[in-house]
Amino acid sequence: MKKALFLVLTSILTLISCQENKESKQENTKTYLEESHSYAQPNDAVITHLNLDIDVDFDTQVISGVATYDIVNNSSSFIILDTKFLEIEEVTADGKEVGFYLGTMDESLGQPLTIEIKEDTKKIAITYKTTAQTEALQWLTAQQTAEKTNPFLFTQGQAILTRTWIPIQDSPQIRITYDATVKVPSNLMAVMSAENPKEKNASGVYNFKMKQPIPAYLIALAVGDIEYKAISDRTGVYAEKSMLDKVHEEFSDMEKMVVAAEDLYGEYDWEQFDVIVLPPSFPFGGMENPRLTFATPTVIAGDKSLTSLVAHELAHSWSGNLVTNATWNDFWLNEGFTVYFEIRIMEALYGKERANMLALIGRQDLDDELEGMKETPNDTKLKLDLKGRNPDDGMNSIAYDKGYLFLRTLEEKVGREKMDAFLKSYFNKNAFSTTNTEDFITYLNENLLEKNNITFNTEEWIYEPGVPDNAAIIKSNAFTNVEKTLQSFIETNKIDVAATQNWTPQEWVHFVRNFPEDISVDQMQQLDDTFDFTNSTNSYITMVWYEQAILNNYHGNNVDAKIAEFLNTVGRRWYVTTLFNAFAKANRTDEALKIYKTARGNYHSVTANTVDEMLGL
Ligand code: BES
Ligand code: ZN
Repeated sequence: MKKALFLVLTSILTLISCQENKESKQENTKTYLEESHSYAQPNDAVITHLNLDIDVDFDTQVISGVATYDIVNNSSSFIILDTKFLEIEEVTADGKEVGFYLGTMDESLGQPLTIEIKEDTKKIAITYKTTAQTEALQWLTAQQTAEKTNPFLFTQGQAILTRTWIPIQDSPQIRITYDATVKVPSNLMAVMSAENPKEKNASGVYNFKMKQPIPAYLIALAVGDIEYKAISDRTGVYAEKSMLDKVHEEFSDMEKMVVAAEDLYGEYDWEQFDVIVLPPSFPFGGMENPRLTFATPTVIAGDKSLTSLVAHELAHSWSGNLVTNATWNDFWLNEGFTVYFEIRIMEALYGKERANMLALIGRQDLDDELEGMKETPNDTKLKLDLKGRNPDDGMNSIAYDKGYLFLRTLEEKVGREKMDAFLKSYFNKNAFSTTNTEDFITYLNENLLEKNNITFNTEEWIYEPGVPDNAAIIKSNAFTNVEKTLQSFIETNKIDVAATQNWTPQEWVHFVRNFPEDISVDQMQQLDDTFDFTNSTNSYITMVWYEQAILNNYHGNNVDAKIAEFLNTVGRRWYVTTLFNAFAKANRTDEALKIYKTARGNYHSVTANTVDEMLGL
């Protein structure tokens, strides 16, 4: 009896120690690919865990504190981190002050921080401060929030901005766990891409833990006068008080989305899925920060019509956060898979027609993007070469919509059952790790194509510009009817209002986006008088309507003032750039510059930098 117990115990112990050995060995022997957007040399010395201890000061708009890392050193005499616009005050290695060196500044990559370490160094600690040039942080005045009484702060890490608020090895190949202690003014609450508080506490000190390893671009922080409202045991929303109920209502299908996603590609690995709705200057529709998606308030339409955004960010919990693109050249592995997964979730919840409308809107985005990229065909390949460029250059609808179309075409070729089994095994095999395009192709060949004796032009889709001839043809009866209604209005100047009675916002968007180039100002006026597009409460409809108003020199119903107001409050990059682009196309740059003069100060750096470039500033 005793002997048996002893045997069981020892075998458990051996098992545990074997696993430990395996893990630590993996850490030491993992080979990282050459990476052009980080100075880190992780094959020499790599970070494995971050302990962040910071103070958020709204008066000076500075974050300051200490970032302490556990590291694994493969006998190097230094470790290199990425920094940009940070003030480094002191560095220690295992508690003793050591020398460090900040290299020359590169406009997009920032400065390498080289720290002296010993063969057996286990921890390094960096005392630092952010500066006014930080690109990740947007400090908002009370005026820029819904409540207008307290300031707000949020971070945006993707693609390479985390290094502007934390000194870190900022490569998607390097995963770390983290703990954080964040001190904020006691009337505000802090939340992170981690285990989060659900209530404010009087001390203003919040503790966080992210126990799953994540890449640096997924570390995120938001600080503001926010509250939490649960949707289910594991889903819920954060927002400013006056928005909380509306947001809760809008996203009330969130638990169903998680269930649908799990049914498709396996268990949700992050325990909690919450969304925080930020003030309108947030530069993206959404950002998939693990456990806590950051979202724009422009999707709160009152009718759940824009919630595919939540499905999208949720899908990143698999494609992106669980299986991460190894380099920014493989960005389509994050976004193309996510759009595919997003549309599958939407289909599961709301049916095929809704899914196909989304797919067709994406198809039109792709065609527009291809048209605009005629001079740079290499950038229309799925696998990019962004060496020497800012990864932001590759973040356009090619990765999203061509990536989607590739996967949809593949699905139609192999059948849904095989496709789903394949994707599930792909996520499973690469969980909490990174993959690149070449490894994906090998995996696809071995586990889906060769196995089933299927030939497919994968290489053409991935390494050639444009869209291959075998692209899936997506059809939507609803959209065909919209096109007919539009066509007949253009020809007869009579609008069939009855036909539009039950249109969804997607159908309205499709209607407005497809005005012929020579639509007349009178026709614009007639449509606006009938449907009041200028005052639509759906941000997507107003955005495409404003675009048409700008392009077609329509000035009725006070639309110019509305456009200016929109551009002065909304910082969502896609919306903002669409409208400034329309001004440029219509040779109305003077008007654009006039608006931008006041609007720029409300934008996050991500949006401001893109618009600066667009307007040649
Ligand atoms: N991860 C992206 C946002 C992003 C991309 C940030 C590149 C920084 C660099 C996010 O998941 C996303 O794709 N957002 C879209 C929403 C969407 C439904 C396609 C957006 O912001 O519009
Ligand atoms: Zn995305």
